[in-house]
Amino acid sequence: MSGSDNDALVIALSKGRIFKETLPLLAHAGIEPVDDPESSRKLVLDTNREDVKLLILRATDVPTFVQYGAADLGVAGKDVLMEHGGEGLYEPVDLKIATCKLMTAGRVGDSGNDGRRLRVATKFVDCTRRFYAARGEQVEIIKLYGSMELAPLVGLADRIVDVVDTGNTLRANGLEPLEHIADISSRLIVNKASMKMKHERVKTVIDDIAEAVAQRG
Ligand code: ATP
Ligand code: PRP
Repeated sequence: MSGSDNDALVIALSKGRIFKETLPLLAHAGIEPVDDPESSRKLVLDTNREDVKLLILRATDVPTFVQYGAADLGVAGKDVLMEHGGEGLYEPVDLKIATCKLMTAGRVGDSGNDGRRLRVATKFVDCTRRFYAARGEQVEIIKLYGSMELAPLVGLADRIVDVVDTGNTLRANGLEPLEHIADISSRLIVNKASMKMKHERVKTVIDDIAEAVAQRG
């Protein structure tokens, strides 16, 4: 099975908030998974429709599977898409789920780096480089894969770039949000070749999901 086969329509999702919040939108398109990814170890989920399969991936990997046609459609956060670059993808619908902000943050009251080059820890390396470059600031970027909030606490970095929703994680770790980089929500993404080759079925899913988003208001 692959996204490029003509028989199955393959949709890439990540576990957790994206899966939960996408479920009602898929249901509106008549697609309901047979298994629950939180309890099943399966990475390919069957649905009520013989011709539709769901892939369960790491959030960061969703655009890659869709770009290469291993999935026809997917749902990914704008943060992940900005970092991926969006090559080979259409982004037809803002699903308005998993909303948050991409921000810089630092220790409460910490004014900076005493003239040293600022060290910034993040998993969003390219977004971070672009953000500081646009401000004419040269920074040293330290790539992390999670728990970014720890970096300023243990002297690994002066700043982090991460997504912020309630701000609870920053507060719990003595950090404060500083600069706003982008508003984030999840997007429906589509492989460019699938849009041509499976146009009718892909377009129907896009339209049904867009309708569900509009109805939710
Ligand atoms: P990975 O497993 O690849 O490291 P992740 O742990 O960031 O990814 P999730 O936590 O499921 O994956 O987040 C998926 C998407 O949800 C993110 O890309 C982002 O757009 C959004 N998101 C992340 N954290 C929050 C949050 N606290 N509140 C709302 N939306 C969020
Ligand atoms: C995300 C993000 C922050 C937190 C921000 O982590 O990496 O740590 O949410 O949300 P808040 O402002 O409401 O506290 P998440 O909960 O997804 O954990 P994970 O990155 O380990 O999956």
